Amino acid sequence: MVRGLSAVCGIIGVAVERGALPEKLGDVLYGCLKRLEYRGYDSVGIAFIDDLGRLVVRKSVGKIDEVREKIGFSEIDGVVGLGHTRWATHGRPSDENAHPHTDCSGTIAVVHNGIIENFSELRKWLENLGHRFRSETDTEVIPHLIEEFIRRGMSIYSAFKRAVSLLRGTYAIAAIYAGGRRILFARNTSPLVIGLGKGYNFIASDIPAFLRYTNRVVVVHDGELGYVTSSSVRLEAADGKVVSVETRARVVEWSPEAVEKGGYRHFMEKEILEQPQALAQTIAGLGEEVRRAAELIARAERVIFVAAGSSYHASIIGALALTRLAKVPSVPLVSSEARWWLGRWLSDRDVVIAVSQSGETIDTLIAVRIAKDLGAKVVALSNVLGSAIPRESHLAIYTRAGPEIGVAATKTFTTQVAALSYLAATVAKLRGEASRSEYEAVVEDLRRCPISASLAIESGRSLVSKALDVFVRSRSAFYLGRGFGLGVAKEGALKMKEVAYVHAEAYPAGESKHGPIALVEPGFPTLFCACSSEELEMVASNVEEMKSRGAVTILVAPRKLAERVRSADHVIEVPKHLSPAVQAIPLVIPLQMLAYETAVARGYDPDKPRNLAKTVTVI
Ligand code: M6R
Repeated sequence: MVRGLSAVCGIIGVAVERGALPEKLGDVLYGCLKRLEYRGYDSVGIAFIDDLGRLVVRKSVGKIDEVREKIGFSEIDGVVGLGHTRWATHGRPSDENAHPHTDCSGTIAVVHNGIIENFSELRKWLENLGHRFRSETDTEVIPHLIEEFIRRGMSIYSAFKRAVSLLRGTYAIAAIYAGGRRILFARNTSPLVIGLGKGYNFIASDIPAFLRYTNRVVVVHDGELGYVTSSSVRLEAADGKVVSVETRARVVEWSPEAVEKGGYRHFMEKEILEQPQALAQTIAGLGEEVRRAAELIARAERVIFVAAGSSYHASIIGALALTRLAKVPSVPLVSSEARWWLGRWLSDRDVVIAVSQSGETIDTLIAVRIAKDLGAKVVALSNVLGSAIPRESHLAIYTRAGPEIGVAATKTFTTQVAALSYLAATVAKLRGEASRSEYEAVVEDLRRCPISASLAIESGRSLVSKALDVFVRSRSAFYLGRGFGLGVAKEGALKMKEVAYVHAEAYPAGESKHGPIALVEPGFPTLFCACSSEELEMVASNVEEMKSRGAVTILVAPRKLAERVRSADHVIEVPKHLSPAVQAIPLVIPLQMLAYETAVARGYDPDKPRNLAKTVTVI
């Protein structure tokens, strides 16, 4: 039985005049793929057109540095090339299933990110026409379709367009062909951006891939397709009209250094340590967009957050801040579950807030579409300008954390919390639920936040020195909290799970007695998070419960308040804030650092956790 092997991936294409870029084509592709590796790292492949106009494909299972020699990047020269880094969602990664995929004649190469849902029927049809398939992937139908339409007399571009018109599913596709200098591309749902240079143009899944060479970008929208050469770009809308690239082009503010490790051991370490700066930039940039979203939310009957992973944890904190401070009933929903909860009860009096750092998470995008269909107003919070979720929402707020390369979200989480805290305070002020001084207190908290994030890094060092050994030795741990502290506990536990592979379970502290406490035995690490004195007072009894069962208890809490619970084995103090939502920011930083150091001490690469991809664009 033929099974489709789909993938979440990074794709890159470059068309260049000789000498226009400082490196040879192979080295450019290597560098771009390296910067895309966080999107997937099961296998790597490239295709390029050699001096004789022939198509050459090289691919292998493994991480890019493991296969660098085998692929021979540094020997490759040429003027047009494609690259792909793959994270398999079904089946094992293998050389055959690695991209690029080619047609029967080996003259057309395609890289793809997404899922072709109707690939089985297309494949059957093509096989009946005599096409021979080499892999089990859904992607391989694309080069064969193009080949088929060329056989029927179409030009390469017409054949590409015809092939794309037959695809159902999600895709970002790039294709090259023997003797050609164009890179053909098409997008539906999976991200795709064009990088505009002088004497060269790129097509990629993400801006960081080519940021070293250009910061002028064009985001390709759903249904659009076209091609790039070294000196031109053709972009067609879904209705076939030509889109003006100059009008669409934007300059991104991210610096090329932001996507380099710059002396740090890993991107995760760099991104944890650059949180003070990321917070300062984000807070400084929160203005008109927040005011407009706040006006919408101030009139709302209910607010529903939809998000995944760390963005969901930020949503717990945001929903609680809106409920408690602004008195707008708000709930967080895991976006992949949203379809079961959202229904006809939703109306244009409700606001859905879609939180996604990448702006491309498919589950969150689908939840946005459902909410819009049901009539709700949608506000997006994202870190990536022009990405799908903000584009499809009625309003968008942006964090300004800079590109995040580490698979584990760190600076994008804390900047989301900062933006949501400010949004909640602005809504509270508009609704008359917060006095001027209460509003000013949140603004002052946010103003101080970059400094307290720096001080929290010191608290993190203290947590690492006290708790690293116990986490390195442990297979499981509890992270407990209440209210805002639960959002922090969940985020801390997720970091520990995803990079250090310790089964860290986050639980509402009060719920721990209803079952999970049975797991506790002497030496079991239990970490408590509290964002306010109210939370701390309630968590204090849970510390005692765990301690009396032999757990190693660690409390992370605001300075001065933490003094009240001296019974924990280790007490880690972080700078104190008045707003419990803002308090979450310095509280989570030590937890990020503990997860990072545990991963390193256990010998794992925290930038490339096993089985994970940075952006999940398949359901
Ligand atoms: O780009 P998004 O914020 O939508 O991503 C959501 C999750 O995939 C993401 O937070 C994931 O859980 C991270 N690996 C967490 O560190």
